[in-house]
Amino acid sequence: MSGLAYGQAAQAAVSDPTNAGKAVFSRANCMGCHKWHGDGGGGYGGDALSLRKTELTKEQIIETVACGRPGTGMPFFVRGAYDTISCYDMTRQDVGERMPPEGGTFLRPNDIAAVADYVIAHVKGAGEPTYAQCTTFFGNTSRVCDIYKAGAESSSKTGTEGSK
Ligand code: HEC
Repeated sequence: MSGLAYGQAAQAAVSDPTNAGKAVFSRANCMGCHKWHGDGGGGYGGDALSLRKTELTKEQIIETVACGRPGTGMPFFVRGAYDTISCYDMTRQDVGERMPPEGGTFLRPNDIAAVADYVIAHVKGAGEPTYAQCTTFFGNTSRVCDIYKAGAESSSKTGTEGSK
């Protein structure tokens, strides 16, 4: 009996349903513009808005990812956007020069829903990025995360460690 209970607990721990969406977030290079933490910032494609501070609903995130955002650097990720796929009730002709760039990869509707779920569950409303969130994202104590450590340990128990 205890063996069974253990098995169930272990399974619950590894099957975060948003893992698929997290994989899309990396694979489709959302993190190239919005960064691992989703807070965005400057870069190619202009200033990617913060997904932590976004007020969009899941449906709106899905449409934004599928269709991009006209007149900005936010790419569209669905094949046939503004063409065979309806986007904001605009055709390619309507959108004209404001046609957003094409994403580096096309995503299926399932992938888009998954990445929207991931953003809702782990990014939207997540506040300032922390060291713990960073190591969870990378799955290890990546050096990328060290800059968040400094903030977390500002009381400087580790005195000489920093190299400011
Ligand atoms: C080439 C850079 C780039 C890539 C890649 C990219 N984005 Fe964006 N994204 C942007 C920019 C720039 C904006 C801001 C658009 C604007 O100014 O309205 C944005 C806006 C958004 C918004 C709207 C936020 C809001 O509150 O209005 C969402 C949601 C979003 N991106 C999600 C994603 C997801 C998910 C992916 C990966 C599938 C992704 N983006 C990939 C550049 C990018």
